[in-house]
Amino acid sequence: MKVLVTGGAGYIGSHVVRQLGEAGHDVVVYDNLSSGHAWAVLSGQLVEGDLADGERLDALFAQNRFDAVLHFAAFIVVPESVAEPLKYYANNTRNTLGLLERVQRFEVPYFVFSSTAAVYGMPDKTIIDEETPLAPINPYGASKMMSERMLMDLGSAGGPAYVALRYFNVAGADPEARIGQATPNATHLIKVACQAALGQRDRLQIFGTDYPTPDGTCIRDYIHVEDLARAHLDALDYLAAGGESRVLNCGYGRGYSVREVVEAVRRVSGVDFSVEESPRRAGDPPALVAENTRIKQVLGWQPRYDDLDTIVRDAWRWEQKFARLQQEKER
Ligand code: UD1
Repeated sequence: MKVLVTGGAGYIGSHVVRQLGEAGHDVVVYDNLSSGHAWAVLSGQLVEGDLADGERLDALFAQNRFDAVLHFAAFIVVPESVAEPLKYYANNTRNTLGLLERVQRFEVPYFVFSSTAAVYGMPDKTIIDEETPLAPINPYGASKMMSERMLMDLGSAGGPAYVALRYFNVAGADPEARIGQATPNATHLIKVACQAALGQRDRLQIFGTDYPTPDGTCIRDYIHVEDLARAHLDALDYLAAGGESRVLNCGYGRGYSVREVVEAVRRVSGVDFSVEESPRRAGDPPALVAENTRIKQVLGWQPRYDDLDTIVRDAWRWEQKFARLQQEKER
């Protein structure tokens, strides 16, 4: 298939692009490199451009007859979305609208959308299925919920068949450490813990130790980026085989606490970095774990890296390599 990947130079997008290339697809990446990197695009052609640039998009769609669009490009930092909501609605929602206008006009048959568990907000249960009411508690989640809605309505009106994947906590890196999380100022727990183990941070803060969980810290469903990427290829195969539009959770269905993650990073790295118990961070639900029966049934998705130490091992390997690359660049 000829596939357009927006945000293909970013963390998750770059892993999908690599797998698409390995599977023989013809890939065009469209990315403004605001948080992605040209070196992370290991397959296909990189077109540097912004989703807000309608003329550029028109030309891109006119020049290529895309069979599918995979849409990753978005801002993802929750506290920033609270401070600058319109930045999120502009880039995540308005730019998705612009992209969907081209998808409709150029009759692209398939669309795969990067959504998030943040659309669920603070659910009163721990294991969350796709029927859980959507109640985002921050503009980031709301911006994604609105995009899902546009996609659903367009789909009903004869638009593309689509799969929207609601990601839980994505972590880890390419097992061969060619690419990984390289976003500046990343806030994700496993990345931050690896940076603490490397000595790039003097300590790791645990945000909240008084949650109603067994050890008092928040529980999340961490999913290896390689398995998450594979779900996108499975979604493409599913759509190409005539599958109907679906919204699917993407997680392992098992949660780990912040303390368990800290212990895993200490164990894998062999570094006993310091940890500071800190107050809760605003807007953190105590526990978020995916009910993942549907994605397994619908896409036949089979996780291969469903193990916390494996996730941490690959994240750690990447973080060490990335640190070396940064040092060499500075020299
Ligand atoms: C959130 C979003 C998710 C988004 C992701 C990246 C929600 C419900 N989820 O995930 O959709 O993709 O951000 O922007 O909004 N923690 C610490 N110390 C740290 C960092 C994190 O204790 O230094 C804790 C957090 O409080 C949380 C857990 O670790 O309990 C995971 O945090 P993080 O990796 O930031 O992801 P989420 O906030 O779960």
